[in-house]
Amino acid sequence: MINRSSGSRMRNPDVTIRRILKVNHAGEFGAIRIYGAQILLARRLFPDIVPALEEMREDEIEHCRLFREAMPSRSAKPCRVMAFWSLGGFVLGILTALGGRNMIWICTEAVESTVHRHLEDQLAFLAERDPGLHALIGSIQEQELAHLKKAEDSQKRRGLSHALLLPVVGALTDLMIWLSTWGASSWMRAEMMRAGRDRL
Ligand SMILES: [Fe+2]
Ligand SMILES: [Fe+2]
Repeated sequence: MINRSSGSRMRNPDVTIRRILKVNHAGEFGAIRIYGAQILLARRLFPDIVPALEEMREDEIEHCRLFREAMPSRSAKPCRVMAFWSLGGFVLGILTALGGRNMIWICTEAVESTVHRHLEDQLAFLAERDPGLHALIGSIQEQELAHLKKAEDSQKRRGLSHALLLPVVGALTDLMIWLSTWGASSWMRAEMMRAGRDRL
């Protein structure tokens, strides 16, 4: 739906809500795969961080389940390219774990901070349009912030690898979100920011 009376190209909010659910569900699945791959290698290389990774993976499994459950009542369907998220997450997890424990935490920091930015946009958009989903994302965001803090606190040093890897993994996460929404995340961000401004 294009609302021309407001002078702006507002799309049907239901479509945006379905896309939010689709990309969040796929993103959680990707996060499960990242942590899964990292745990696989960390068991041999850095067993001391396995409990923390497993705990975060459990959270992502729960988030994935909650987003899936929220889909039917909103006529949303899972992403058609879940295999792409699965492979992308697994490869990212393996590569960062091979880079060392610091790389694992840099990867977590990059992914979680990118996710946080997208969730902020979504919360602004959903506040008055879907209070139920808004509350769900708000509670999930708290756990994602705890993951981000754990990743930041676990880094012993922040040298060149941090400066180089953080923007690369952040950009890859953005790219995966963009590709799996067929480019819609760009206008979703603009629309969600506009929704946030309108509420002020
Ligand atoms: Fe999550
Ligand atoms: Fe997370």
